[in-house]
Amino acid sequence: MRPMTVTDIKRLNRDWRRRTSGSVSVALVSLSNPFNVGSIYRTAATLGADTVYLIGATPTALEPKVRKTSLGTEKAVQTVQAATLAEVADQVHAQGGVMTAVELAAGAVPIHEHAFPDSVCLVLGSERHGLPPSGLSLCDNAVFVAQPGKVASLNVSVAASLALYEFRRQHWSRLES
Ligand SMILES: C[S@@+](CC[C@H](N)C(=O)[O-])C[C@H]1O[C@@H](n2cnc3c(N)ncnc32)[C@H](O)[C@@H]1O
Repeated sequence: MRPMTVTDIKRLNRDWRRRTSGSVSVALVSLSNPFNVGSIYRTAATLGADTVYLIGATPTALEPKVRKTSLGTEKAVQTVQAATLAEVADQVHAQGGVMTAVELAAGAVPIHEHAFPDSVCLVLGSERHGLPPSGLSLCDNAVFVAQPGKVASLNVSVAASLALYEFRRQHWSRLES
């Protein structure tokens, strides 16, 4: 083994882009920490997400602290700002997508047991309060990341990363079978 060059990585990414289908977006409901938003942009751009929906008071990429962790990757993803999650749900449903809450909610299923359809918007809640009941009720279903450790919850940007990766992983593994 040897480290990859920048050219190697560009070629590798291009190969995986050709093998990737399905449409995934993330909706961030009233996040407060700009570093989390920037980090989510970076993962969304890396995993080929279509859109980052910024809802309510979620900081935008105009904030320098968001750009500290997004490192310019926000330019690779469409951003849609919305006052409410209901507006986003209308848009997603009009395009044939499914709204999936990523939340430790009653009735949520473990994400690794959930079969993602082709077009999904992953909905994440705020660092302090999570997704409110009104937000959960706008979602078609809910998934959670099982936590065998003794910690109450994941950081929201980590939860977003795991959910985005699981969406892609499932589609890639279906291509192989
Ligand atoms: C730090 S958590 C919010 C915790 C909040 N104190 C609560 O009790 O709801 C922020 C967001 O990360 C996501 N999250 C954190 N841990 C998760 C898990 N294990 N499974 C799914 N989503 C998770 C959810 O979207 C949640 O709204």
